[in-house]
Amino acid sequence: MGKIVIEKSALPSILGKNDSIAIRGGKPLNGEVVVRGAKNAISKEMVAALLTSEKCVLKNVPNIEDFEVVSNMIRAVGGEVARQKNGDIEIIAEDIHPVDKTELHKIAGKSRIPVLFAGPLLHRSGEAFIPELGGCRIGKRPVDFHMKALAALGAKIEPIEKGFHITAEKLKGAKIVLDYPSVGATEQILLAAVLAEGITELSNAAIEPEIMDLIAVLQKMGAIISVDTDRVITIQGVAALHGYDHTVLSDRLETASWACAAAATNGRIFVRGAKQYPLMTFLNKFRQVGGEFTISEEGIEFFRGRDLTSIAIETDVFPGFSTDYQQPFVVLLTQANGASVIHETVYEKRFGFVEALNKMGAHIQVYRECLGGRTCRFGQANHEHSAVITGLTKLTGAEIEIPDLRAGFSYAIAALTAEGETTLKNIHHIYRGYENFTEKLKALGVVVID
Ligand code: EPU
Repeated sequence: MGKIVIEKSALPSILGKNDSIAIRGGKPLNGEVVVRGAKNAISKEMVAALLTSEKCVLKNVPNIEDFEVVSNMIRAVGGEVARQKNGDIEIIAEDIHPVDKTELHKIAGKSRIPVLFAGPLLHRSGEAFIPELGGCRIGKRPVDFHMKALAALGAKIEPIEKGFHITAEKLKGAKIVLDYPSVGATEQILLAAVLAEGITELSNAAIEPEIMDLIAVLQKMGAIISVDTDRVITIQGVAALHGYDHTVLSDRLETASWACAAAATNGRIFVRGAKQYPLMTFLNKFRQVGGEFTISEEGIEFFRGRDLTSIAIETDVFPGFSTDYQQPFVVLLTQANGASVIHETVYEKRFGFVEALNKMGAHIQVYRECLGGRTCRFGQANHEHSAVITGLTKLTGAEIEIPDLRAGFSYAIAALTAEGETTLKNIHHIYRGYENFTEKLKALGVVVID
């Protein structure tokens, strides 16, 4: 069994600290923050390193908790992960073995990444244990698409207590159609099919920029993958893959979060490392509500171009408006004049966080109906998945508990916009995906008591 080492030096500053911070709001945020590699690409690219016994190098990896969680999972199956002095991450997985179930449950926590270990573990050891990932506060988040796809590729799946035991002598290419363009299921199929025998044709695939970055890594490793028209991805299986050296794409979700913070507080934030292309849909909506930006080689500066006004938005898979932009954008819209509508079509329960915003003075009402657009798959299912945000509202400080990562950042924006002091509890959710969060706030002139 691989030894589990938690490198404390590499963890963000939460160890030994309170799990809450207080923010004094009501002032514009001004200054610069650095945004590094995308949380939602790093974990999958680290898992890809298990497809080879050669050394893999990942650059631009921020110190976020998710990185530590995936590192420990890789160590648990026999791989080595280390951050070099220059900041590069080196992963070597010479010998891979299945992991002890109890240990994996302990390491993985609520992470959704263990399910993606299936393909590499099946190729390397013929066997994988995948823990039940459980639901969370934004929706049920099942793994049925993953299991159906692995079965189509020839894996034998046995549901066991708290997870699945999966075995396969050799995976074989197949034609797979996803019921919904799921990011995780698309990644699952990529990671399983690259070394399968023959061709896999995946229809209704997700095409998020983080998936394209994973495909770029796999191509560097020797894979043959084509992204065709109409969400079809074709993977021609190869016999073996080799190591890679890759710089992770910039985190568009973190950039969008800082953009909302800049406009909500009527400040000006330069996000060093931000890239325009993956953010195009966000930038359009940001400009439509009155936000403005200047794009340069080094990054993007965000500010208000005029008084903020209302909008109707529907979240969707890429190239649509990402569900992960939704929560910070809701707070931004509390500072816009008029009634805005957001229809959430990716997760059925992603508006639970608005209750705390209403306590701070926001005026947000949630509805079961599909408001402001097409009927989505949640329309007849009684989920409160549309919201009407009426602005402009003055927010005041409060004591609030963070339920998840993106809601966490949006509460921080609310706190920064509000008059007085706000205490944010369960701040660890933010550290999962935002590097040096409190340090960045301080650099932008915010008084943070941590
Ligand atoms: N779904 C199923 N069955 C499955 C898989 C998904 O019904 O087997 C449903 C989900 O319940 C959801 C929808 O499909 O309603 C989309 O889920 P998807 O699989 O695309 O999401 P994911 O891969 O679990 C990733 C990101 C999320 C991001 C979504 C959508 C990671 C680690 N997570 O999740 O990021 O919201 O794609 O873009 O990459 C975040 O960063 O805060 C975050 C939640």
